[in-house]
Amino acid sequence: MALKITVIGTGYLGATHAAAMAELGFEVLALDVVPEKIEMLRRGEVPMFEPGLEELLRKHVAGIEGSTERLRFTMDWAEIGAFGDVHFVCVNTPQRHGEYACDMSYVDSAFASLAPHLHNAALVVGKSTVPVGSADRLAAYLAEHAPAGEGAELAWNPEFLREGFAVNDTLHPDRLVVGVRSERAEKLLREVYAAPIAEGSPFVVTDFPTAELVKTSANSFLATKISFINAMAEVCEAAGGDVAKLAEAIGYDDRIGKKFLRAGIGFGGGCLPKDIRAFMARAGELGADQALTFLREIDSINMRQRGQMVELTRQALGGGPFLGKRVAVLGATFKPDSDDVRDSPALNVAGQIHLQGGQVTVYDPKGMTNARRLFPTLGYADSAVEAVRGADVVLHLTEWREFRELDPAALGEVAATRLVLDGRNALDPSLWRAAGWTYRAMGRPTA
Ligand code: UDX
Repeated sequence: MALKITVIGTGYLGATHAAAMAELGFEVLALDVVPEKIEMLRRGEVPMFEPGLEELLRKHVAGIEGSTERLRFTMDWAEIGAFGDVHFVCVNTPQRHGEYACDMSYVDSAFASLAPHLHNAALVVGKSTVPVGSADRLAAYLAEHAPAGEGAELAWNPEFLREGFAVNDTLHPDRLVVGVRSERAEKLLREVYAAPIAEGSPFVVTDFPTAELVKTSANSFLATKISFINAMAEVCEAAGGDVAKLAEAIGYDDRIGKKFLRAGIGFGGGCLPKDIRAFMARAGELGADQALTFLREIDSINMRQRGQMVELTRQALGGGPFLGKRVAVLGATFKPDSDDVRDSPALNVAGQIHLQGGQVTVYDPKGMTNARRLFPTLGYADSAVEAVRGADVVLHLTEWREFRELDPAALGEVAATRLVLDGRNALDPSLWRAAGWTYRAMGRPTA
């Protein structure tokens, strides 16, 4: 009989995982504790913008005309416990307020709610990003609190999906990592992931701590790559070099690789910044803090980029205060193809300039609702052209395709000054310069 799967938590990770499991042919029951979310999902609507996710949900959500009926939603833990052979825990682990460590309360409360309903043998699979050591602790918790006792087993299976590519990354992962303690757990997970394994996704079997660490170390490496290239941008800026050429040239070495070497205002979002901080905090608890002191530097290089963008803007406007200056900001989300504004470098830069008296107008293709909610005092426009109208300077802060495809000549007609600062090194300088714009980017020569 085919495995029955539950997904606990229907945020980014959970909603995508539930839809992907249904796409792989499983019967799926997903739970959330927020009634509004469940109602939306039952209608086949997704509470965030993620390319392809809504279509995939609508293909499977029960009650939607023409769907496979394989995906259902509930708020009832007893139903979850009775239904699932494999339970994926996909709840959030945000940064704790005012601290580096991550907040495990959602994970802990998910386990506390689930455990008493595990009457039959089942595999509980943690996917949330957690401090190393959590899986050991949660396995002991399950053994103690699940009526099935040892029959309720734990596995850890970190998730590497990227926002904007979540569906594809889940259905066609570049690797699957599973921390297991028994052959039975490994066998069940091989069954769940039979399709991607058959397609060639490597399946890496480890112990619990290694599985947990793969995730945090992968994110630390990615953050390090970005901060490395941003440090090189600072040196290029000082020495008159061109960081984009430098990145291209070092990237030809496949030991280095081309990806994640785009200099600019740095990384943000709900993962990289908080994950490296939580990793440092956990290493400290383990007495291994010295091993990760470099991550403090990675974090501070990253945060410095935002301030440098503000200073670049100030200099480009002739120095001095921003008072009375009209600043068009293209981009609000932390990356393109997402409506996520959590720890967004773009909004941080926009907010700093606004606080210093600049008259800021923001436009983003998908992030306007979330941006307005987070920064209600900023100015907003409904299109790039409207944001740029009358602007003394245009800041390109999130590299949406829509912005690369803008016509600089047409924008030049509405801007007060043809001055563009590219905080993402993603526009084509020659196009903008040909249309009479002064183009500046961090770590690149002025002309
Ligand atoms: C990241 C990891 O990539 C993913 O594997 C993990 O599961 C979750 O965290 P995500 O948060 O979606 O995914 O964003 P990512 O694509 O990694 O980008 C992170 C940030 O880095 C963005 O703000 C992006 O603009 C920035 N970035 C990325 C750069 O500044 N330069 C680059 O070269 C690449």
